[in-house]
Amino acid sequence: MPRDAYVNGRYVPHGQAQVHVEDRGYQFADAVYEVIAVHAGRLVDEEPHLDRLGHSLSSLEIDWPMSRAALKLAMRELIRRNGVEQGIIYLQISRGVAPRDHAFPKSRPRPALVMTTRHARRPNTALLETGAAAITVPDIRWGRCDIKSVSLLPNILGKQKAAEAGAYEAWQVAPNGTITEGTSTNAWIVTKDGELVTRQLDHAILNGITRQAVMRIAAEGQVKVVERPFTVAEVRSAREAFLTSTTSFVMPITALDGEKIGDGKPGALSRRLRQWYLDYMNAPPTQASNAAA
Ligand code: PDD
Repeated sequence: MPRDAYVNGRYVPHGQAQVHVEDRGYQFADAVYEVIAVHAGRLVDEEPHLDRLGHSLSSLEIDWPMSRAALKLAMRELIRRNGVEQGIIYLQISRGVAPRDHAFPKSRPRPALVMTTRHARRPNTALLETGAAAITVPDIRWGRCDIKSVSLLPNILGKQKAAEAGAYEAWQVAPNGTITEGTSTNAWIVTKDGELVTRQLDHAILNGITRQAVMRIAAEGQVKVVERPFTVAEVRSAREAFLTSTTSFVMPITALDGEKIGDGKPGALSRRLRQWYLDYMNAPPTQASNAAA
């Protein structure tokens, strides 16, 4: 099926979609992005994703390229054109096009908006049964990881290390020995004492939308979540570990740096939370979640 991309107000064939060579996203990574899951043709957690986009934009003093309502309509139109039932929509907003100069352009160019969609790959059910492996890498990122910036070099290098090690993800370790998060996922453990832990929100991690949903779902299921830093040693001695993200949902992690976590199998709570998250995605949409504006 032919695929369109959205580029600054136009729907164009994906293969011909282009941005200007002096787009500041291209030259400086002066841009932010979002990845929103499409499930049964609907956007999952659209409002919190747009709230986070607003946070990223305002933190960098980039204007919205259009109203939130207009953006929602454009996303729906791209999903409709591309016939996406299961997959993702990717949005990227850069500060715009201007002659190369580090400071913000005085001309205040129009922010550039690009959107693409992708059909979901088949879920890796084998991995869900065995659990996935993670490695650790030093967290060499900047001090504002709460901004979903396209400047992702440390994340790319970490993920490449994971790929070379045959692992699914790299968990990034702060200088004090605590795990911040994965390169594109949030990190969780269940301690020996049964405490469900994920790192607290601050500038060191992304405020994951799946993390938010899993926190809500856990609370509804009477499972207490403790938000605090946890160390690599705690992961090694944990009963269970898992990660969350828009594309992985809840993924059990059963090995860290080649050593088994718990009994080396996906843990009971990880499985339960994954199922609850799938149920949440499959729940009939409320009017609010499906409305265009
Ligand atoms: N990654 N941490 C980082 C550094 C991320 O890049 C992401 C998302 C997450 C999880 O956030 P969410 O639950 O909102 O997807 C955590 C997206 C999917 C990506 O870069 O493709």
